[in-house]
Amino acid sequence: MMPVYKDSSCSPEQRADDLLARMTLEEKIGQMIQISCSVASESEAEEWAAHRFAGSFLYAFGDTAKHLQELALSTRLGIPILFGIDAIHGHALNTGATVFPSQLSMSCSWNPELVQKAGRVTAKEVASEGLHWTFSPVLCLGRDLRWGRINETFGEDQYLAGILGAAIIKGYQGEHLADPDSILACAKHYIAYGESLGGRDSYDTSASMRKVREVFLPPFAEAVKAGCATMMASYQSVDGTPVSASEKLLKDLLKDELGFKGFVVTDWENVRNLVVRQGVAADMKEAAAKALNAGNDMIMNTPEFYYAAIELVKAGVVKESIIDQAVRRILFIKFALGLFDGKCRPQNNKHNTLACSEHLDINMKLTRESIVLLENRNNILPLKSNIKKIAVIGPNADDIQAQFGDWTYFSHPDLNPSAVPKIETWTVLRGIKELSSKYKAEVVYHKGCDIMDPEDQDIEGAARLASSADAVIAVIGDCLAQNGEYKDRADLDLSGSQQKLLEALKACGKPLIVVLVNGKPLSIPWAAKYSDALIEAFNSGMFGGKAVAEIIFGETNPSGRLSISFPYHSGQLPVYYNQLPGWHGAKYMDMPSEPLYSFGYGLSYTSFEYSNLKLSKNICNTDDTVAVNTDVRNTGSIDGMETVQLYVRDLASSVVTPVKQLKGFKKVEIKAGETVTIEIPLDIRELFIVNEAEEYVVEPGEFEIMVGPDSRDSVLHKTRLVVE
Ligand code: BGC
Repeated sequence: MMPVYKDSSCSPEQRADDLLARMTLEEKIGQMIQISCSVASESEAEEWAAHRFAGSFLYAFGDTAKHLQELALSTRLGIPILFGIDAIHGHALNTGATVFPSQLSMSCSWNPELVQKAGRVTAKEVASEGLHWTFSPVLCLGRDLRWGRINETFGEDQYLAGILGAAIIKGYQGEHLADPDSILACAKHYIAYGESLGGRDSYDTSASMRKVREVFLPPFAEAVKAGCATMMASYQSVDGTPVSASEKLLKDLLKDELGFKGFVVTDWENVRNLVVRQGVAADMKEAAAKALNAGNDMIMNTPEFYYAAIELVKAGVVKESIIDQAVRRILFIKFALGLFDGKCRPQNNKHNTLACSEHLDINMKLTRESIVLLENRNNILPLKSNIKKIAVIGPNADDIQAQFGDWTYFSHPDLNPSAVPKIETWTVLRGIKELSSKYKAEVVYHKGCDIMDPEDQDIEGAARLASSADAVIAVIGDCLAQNGEYKDRADLDLSGSQQKLLEALKACGKPLIVVLVNGKPLSIPWAAKYSDALIEAFNSGMFGGKAVAEIIFGETNPSGRLSISFPYHSGQLPVYYNQLPGWHGAKYMDMPSEPLYSFGYGLSYTSFEYSNLKLSKNICNTDDTVAVNTDVRNTGSIDGMETVQLYVRDLASSVVTPVKQLKGFKKVEIKAGETVTIEIPLDIRELFIVNEAEEYVVEPGEFEIMVGPDSRDSVLHKTRLVVE
């Protein structure tokens, strides 16, 4: 009779139980090991696949992956390997794949449908290479802009991150995990990683459990609801306990309370670092015991865990049932994914899937909606037909690596600055050159200066060229060396000679359009004040330059909105919008109280007017849904997209609550002159707070309901709601 685990008519649970019962201790613990092909030699990797039953590999590509899979399939039980990859904004470690905007950039689209489609495209491209699992999305919040990984976040807000996170997870995993095109998502880095001390990557997050629950948990709770198959435990400690050593965070909160059914993978060397860096274990055995008891299921890149765990069980220090729980979760996901039913080998081998035209179309749409127009003085944009010569100046005008940002083949798994993309790429220079031909404008280019090296500059040459033109497009920002792990910054000012360059260009007296190509908000008060137009593109992927050029020439009406606030100065941090109120001015005496640009902000070439804010009821119960309605009129002469944002403030509660909190939004296309009525449902359960006893409660009382184009008080229309 066919064993249950081989019978595809049985449920993943039944099959996992059946298989588990057949496994030796070594086979079980092997499943918990994830080996990195960027570290293990070829023969070590083979050894792990064939003789130590490693459950997963990362950074295994092409023939290597195929070979390791065949080795695993020929073991006694033939348990297939799960191959993981950092497909962070597209399957971008592959030179032929679609490169999407970074998570931060795409979050400025405020468009969950497009973000979901980007996830689907990525899944298809990853699956076509025979890989099964992406370590994405990042659901950390970008609240300390000094942190090097801000580019990987969906911005600063837990509600927006939750919506976009759930969307991309649905894209990766599809309707059914077992679909040939579906891959596993991995929500990371659980939890509170974005707020480690001083923005310093992997240091302690000094947060109370109340704050963890109220601020950092919601996006992960959304990921669980969306069926996210895996979660990654973050590097850092929360209030002194490393996440990978925390039973409270992994087992009690994530698995038991949130009901997460998938498996937890540690981040890179988490278990080793319980000994080596964090010093909460004296040796690997102690570290392994802590990691096991806490609820880590798969161990990334600490192979010595394998031997320690076997010894621990044999010596009776750790119960085998703990191992069983972890392995059952891993096997359950492997069965649910269809790995035992053929999906372990590259299914479709559709190499023509990579960057196919359907995928590029989706990417182009998402990129367009991700670009944010921050200034447009005297409607300098779109450029008018009297502009006959354009000077494109600046270090990021023609730098595809800066435009791609982190987590592409230029930076991972190893630094490879000379990699050559096999896809079309559009820097801003290319975009301006190609589109300008339609407008019969001449384009000249000068790099001006380097971002990292202040010596490498020719400001005079750049200014001379700028003086000869009718308009100047300065493309500045930051570079790969300033974003990512190990790349936190204390100073968010423009580096190198970029500020000098801007000032020299301004002195030419020509209209100055500044385009920012950067990983995260920089402190750019001068550019904000003196540019004629300012465009934030962040790391906008392969089509960024085209989308920017379309906006500059008016072929696209910009619709991106910031998912993150900009500071005047890094000393002003934090500047996120949903702060808790204080009463001594909530500001530094030498800085404005508002951020330079606020969460939700962005301009359009048309204008929108809000009126008639109404609630379907003004008094409701804690389990109601109230419809929030507003009229929005496009008062300009062209069609445009507006993102209507709903904020809420709890006016009296048992703990201090944020001055406002996003609780809904809707992005809509409104024709010129048209008025539309927008309805945003407000689920009253969304008005929860976490009280002093760390319980989620909606406390009855009065709430302020605010609707408008961004998070600034000055533009929000307000009304009140009573919850009984
Ligand atoms: C990062 C993770 C990533 C992992 C595997 C770690 O350094 O923190 O985000 O998924 O490496 O590449």
